[in-house]
Amino acid sequence: MVAKTIPVDPFDLVIIGGTGDLARRKILPGLFRRMCAGQMPDEARVIGASRSDLDADGFRDFVREALEEFAGETQCGDGAVDQFLAKLDYVSLDVFGDKGWKELKASLRPDVIRAVYFSVGPSLFGEIARKLSGHGITDEHSRIVVEKPFGHDLDSAKVLNAELRACFDEHQIYRIDHYLGKETVQNLMAVRFGNALFEPLWNAQHVDHVQITVAETVSVAGRGGYYDKSGAMRDMVQNHLMQLLCLSAMEPPAKYGADAVRDEKLKVIRALEPVSPAEVVRGQYNAGGDVDSYVAHSEDPNSKTESFIALKVKVANWRWASTPFYLRTGKRLRGRMSEIAIVFKDPPHSIFEGEFKRKGNVLVIRLQPDEGITLRVTIKEPGPGGMRLTEVPLDMSFAEALGDQVSFMPDAYERLIMDVIRGDQTLFMRGDEVEAAWAWVDPIIQAWQDAGDTPVAYDPGGAGPDDSLMLLHKDGRRWREIKP
Ligand code: BG6
Repeated sequence: MVAKTIPVDPFDLVIIGGTGDLARRKILPGLFRRMCAGQMPDEARVIGASRSDLDADGFRDFVREALEEFAGETQCGDGAVDQFLAKLDYVSLDVFGDKGWKELKASLRPDVIRAVYFSVGPSLFGEIARKLSGHGITDEHSRIVVEKPFGHDLDSAKVLNAELRACFDEHQIYRIDHYLGKETVQNLMAVRFGNALFEPLWNAQHVDHVQITVAETVSVAGRGGYYDKSGAMRDMVQNHLMQLLCLSAMEPPAKYGADAVRDEKLKVIRALEPVSPAEVVRGQYNAGGDVDSYVAHSEDPNSKTESFIALKVKVANWRWASTPFYLRTGKRLRGRMSEIAIVFKDPPHSIFEGEFKRKGNVLVIRLQPDEGITLRVTIKEPGPGGMRLTEVPLDMSFAEALGDQVSFMPDAYERLIMDVIRGDQTLFMRGDEVEAAWAWVDPIIQAWQDAGDTPVAYDPGGAGPDDSLMLLHKDGRRWREIKP
């Protein structure tokens, strides 16, 4: 059964870029699933807007196909698709011209929540913001949603922030990082701050190091143009891994609320030490199996863009001084695995003799696949023969523990869109947070560009370049295995 939820208030959601890939794959199927879950009120409406010369029926045909392909199992019942399509409208719009803006304004209702999703590239954000406010389509009660990438570096992020803030107040701007909408990412806060057990140990005194891995099996095929200007550092570290780092490292906020949480995350970003080139490993995948090499997917045959990156990061504050955070992410690796591993220190003294090698406790927060939490503990090996020790996982798979509630869990986009309608910014990035993240990332990129650095090649289907293993080996540590 789909978990039923309380409906949000009536809304008009405009999706600019309504016929684009994100709308087709994520936003529209996500809204459909929320309707099926009973979260969308009868009065909700979704207005697609894009350059395409469609009418409302043409848009409905487009959405019907998108739902067939991407809505997945929803247990929605007969007639649900038609019920959803009846909520749709469409306006053909020219972002840089006049076409469509008056029609868009006329199609919206005055007395419901109004949100506009900019499902387009950041180069259009400023113009769309100006058109929306210039035509009186939005006012101080409206909300706007913008996608990543939020800029390319600190300067471009500042320009984007200034363009949006010229038309909207910060409390109206919802910057998406879909990792924040993932169930386990929020669970990290629940585990840390909802239990008395972990927090006293969550510091440099007890934690040896933290590993954050986002491994993917996909290549960049079909996205070479975008990816080549971005690379793993901008595409993944500046946003997704940074958010995981912040939530792992931050101090307890005074309450679970948008600014309280974001203030604490910002303090972590500002406490990050500069990273020296010796603590960064960049890689680029070779050809292998039936998949081409990175450069074959790129538009530049000499591309020096990294499809893999590993870094040793230090958080220079009282809690974390001397506990490194190792971050790694890459495409075409052995498995799709995202996790945060908190590796605790060994017991200070072993009372046991013999061969047993102490490995310390590890708390693993798994984002994907198979969301859950595992704590590795040492126990006595069963049976006679003296005191022999072994390690076992205390494993909590959310799917096993929570059953159907997990199977029909909203995906990140569904959750985040509903948060926009509810007016909850906790899981969205604030402007100063994004700028602080770029301010940390820019010099790292600049250093390898100045050095003319070339990424090391790695074979697909593995754990990335050997140099990445060395990054930990030289500290007497090792990465956790990336499982297929
Ligand atoms: C996107 C990146 O933001 O996140 C992609 O642009 C990446 O390169 C994707 O593949 C990963 O998201 P997820 O939810 O599949 O882990």
